[in-house]
Amino acid sequence: MPRLDPDATAGLVPRLAAMSTPEFSVVARWATPQGMSALGNELDARVAQAVRAFADRQGVAWTPGVDIAAGGVERTCKQPTVPAPGAATLTIDCSIVLAAGSVLGERLVTIDRVGGRPRDIRRTVLYADTATGELGDGTGLFEPGTEARVMDLLAEGLRAGGRAAAGSSPLDVLTPEGRRALLADAVLTASDDLVVAVPLAPSAAGTGVHTVPVVVPARLLAPFFSAFGARVRDAAVSADVPIRAEAPTAADPVDCTFVACVSITFDDGPSSLTAGLLEILHERRAPATFYVQGLSVERRPGVALQTAEAGHEIGNHTWAHSSLPLLPDDQVRAEIERAQAAIRAASGIEARSLRPPYGAFDDRVRALIGLPFVVWDVDTNDWRSPGSDVVTSRAVEGAERGSIILLHDTHEETVAAVPGIVDGLRARGFTLATVSDQFAGTLPPPGSIVSHGPG
Ligand code: NI
Repeated sequence: MPRLDPDATAGLVPRLAAMSTPEFSVVARWATPQGMSALGNELDARVAQAVRAFADRQGVAWTPGVDIAAGGVERTCKQPTVPAPGAATLTIDCSIVLAAGSVLGERLVTIDRVGGRPRDIRRTVLYADTATGELGDGTGLFEPGTEARVMDLLAEGLRAGGRAAAGSSPLDVLTPEGRRALLADAVLTASDDLVVAVPLAPSAAGTGVHTVPVVVPARLLAPFFSAFGARVRDAAVSADVPIRAEAPTAADPVDCTFVACVSITFDDGPSSLTAGLLEILHERRAPATFYVQGLSVERRPGVALQTAEAGHEIGNHTWAHSSLPLLPDDQVRAEIERAQAAIRAASGIEARSLRPPYGAFDDRVRALIGLPFVVWDVDTNDWRSPGSDVVTSRAVEGAERGSIILLHDTHEETVAAVPGIVDGLRARGFTLATVSDQFAGTLPPPGSIVSHGPG
């Protein structure tokens, strides 16, 4: 099966969902292509469905964990996962099998094992064409009703390769569902072949542990391709460089009940360092939440707009960074409203949460402000300039599922620490999400104190 370098493929955002108990372990790795939300959502949904069904069968309530899968999301689509021994395990791994022109093909291999032995293996390739918005697995490459004809060609491939006796029809055992299960994994290659992993001893359901890749020249299949299949084939054989989706960093949704999320938050900006930080985040496709000061937004409205356009969350950090409990009521309101107006004017965004300066608030202040108060549970104390390495290790080691990590985009050391923080959190198995994403878009009501996601 062809396997492309995920790092050379446009805009992939790695995902990891993992959980482990003494009797049970799941490690699922896949990648959602940024800016191709339909494909990303379909991949997320298929993985979630497989994982939750497995957890249900084991009688386990799904709670995503971290520090389970060596390499975290960094290994996504690169190396298959080695399952933990002994227990009931489910692994899902991905590979990028096609990235050409506007078409991307990602393969998911799902292996259900008991005591280390595979019990069930499912393989699917999902294709998406960003030019047309079409999406489908390998079965969608063919016109409905042509499956039996394609099976004949695959059987011929098995016989020609000496994998089936002359005159035998090893695929006749397949039910219509079995045929579709086999075709769901069909890969179209740059050399204009179709490759299907065919079980050596296929069950009626089209599954089997040991498989052999059967190669059929695509020209023999030409009468059976759907219009979508023909377009995928054209893309596969073209020498087109895959499109680089210049999508916003944080545009695609993430389900924080399914993967272990954590939020990095930056206070006090925008500063002269923020534009550089946005580039680092874009390169790593890492979403963040920025608690900005109104005064600084008014000074750098373009950076605030850029932050919003990258899909990051923007929250209110008051107009001039005063300690709110020290101000009379009307000034407390003015601090919030002026900042709210500056954020709106610069970015078009209505900030939905407040980070009180110095983390200082009291019941009077809470009652005055129509926003939830988002503080933090991991304080890097980066403003004391402990050095980038210390900031990185405090952020990475201090995080747990749902953490909200406090940083400041006004310190060079902090910005320099961000690549290590993002990579380190992902290596532990975390998915980065905005604070609102942790609450599925609906933050707790005004006056609430939030220092952690709901998980
Ligand atoms: Ni501050």
